[in-house]
Amino acid sequence: MNVNGKHYRTIWIKENDPSTIQVINQIVLPHEFAIMDLRTVEDFRIAIKDMYIRGAGLIGATAGYGMYIAALTSPENEFESFIEESGKILAATRPTASNLVWAINRQLEAMNSRSIRAEKIKIAHETAIAIADEDAEFCRRLGDHGKEIIMEISKRKKGETVHILTHCNAGWLAFTDYGSATAPIYAAFDAGIKIHVWVDETRPRNQGASLTSWELGQHGVPHDLIPDNAGGHLMQHGMVDLVITGTDRVTRNGDVANKIGTYLKAVAARDNNIPMYVALPSSTFDFDLIDGVKNIPIEERDAGEVRFMTGKTVDGRIETVQICPDSTPARNWGFDVTPARLITKLICERGVCDASESGILGLFPEKK
Ligand code: MRU
Repeated sequence: MNVNGKHYRTIWIKENDPSTIQVINQIVLPHEFAIMDLRTVEDFRIAIKDMYIRGAGLIGATAGYGMYIAALTSPENEFESFIEESGKILAATRPTASNLVWAINRQLEAMNSRSIRAEKIKIAHETAIAIADEDAEFCRRLGDHGKEIIMEISKRKKGETVHILTHCNAGWLAFTDYGSATAPIYAAFDAGIKIHVWVDETRPRNQGASLTSWELGQHGVPHDLIPDNAGGHLMQHGMVDLVITGTDRVTRNGDVANKIGTYLKAVAARDNNIPMYVALPSSTFDFDLIDGVKNIPIEERDAGEVRFMTGKTVDGRIETVQICPDSTPARNWGFDVTPARLITKLICERGVCDASESGILGLFPEKK
């Protein structure tokens, strides 16, 4: 998508330097737009774990490039053990998004199909690019499917503005391009449908406030930032036509893990008869799991993210402040699981389906 009129993806190989991967540094957004270089497996580990990059699709794409860099920087005689260890290091960074392990396994399989080191590096390079390109293409396609849903609602409202609520950032910053929840939004906006987005701030890391607001603003999509707890009130007053979120992992039966707070939005949406859509590329399915509440690993992050907030002061300095008493303990779960029964439909690159095993396998029959 565009930043100040120039097209960017979130990750790419540096021009004329195949040993450097560049990413948009998401920690300093929205106050600064900065590019970061990743050259070693350790750089990739820190970038994913400390959330310089984040979002399910981008975590996967970054792991894909990380495995390519692992191959490139591997010691001459220890290729296999170095690659295996690098895969383990990257897989341990964040537990919830299924795209991470999916991308690492895809790279391991690709490299295992070659016998000579130079060929392994070559195929790791090609696979990293393929993962990133597919991610963008799948998001673009699911955007077209989701646009149809928004268009239907717009027709029903006789062209009046369609109000969409979204949580966290499942935008192009969370993928390599387009986003998942935002892809239908951008496609509808570009098609001239009148839309408006309610952006949940998404405590504790505020990905909605800092990233989704920034993205939508760059693209000119009308939006308002709202506190996390406002959604239910807006739904009760007819101010939300649909909810669209992304997801970090969807089980075989359609349970959805997404940023903490998504479940409460789904409950409120159901209580108010508002459709709740979840958009995802197929790399986010975990076909091996059923019962998301029991089985999806939920990341618990540092309590400091709850106890402190970072932002811009009135005189323009970036500061971190403590928002609770010095001795207050805190807990910080990054995700929650919305049971399939609360999801109206899933929006994927192959089309729209029920959040159920039969609905999902209808689109992905090869997983039966
Ligand atoms: O912790 P993050 O920022 O990596 O989590 C991102 C989310 O949970 C988003 O809500 C999103 O829907 C999943 S990424 C497409």
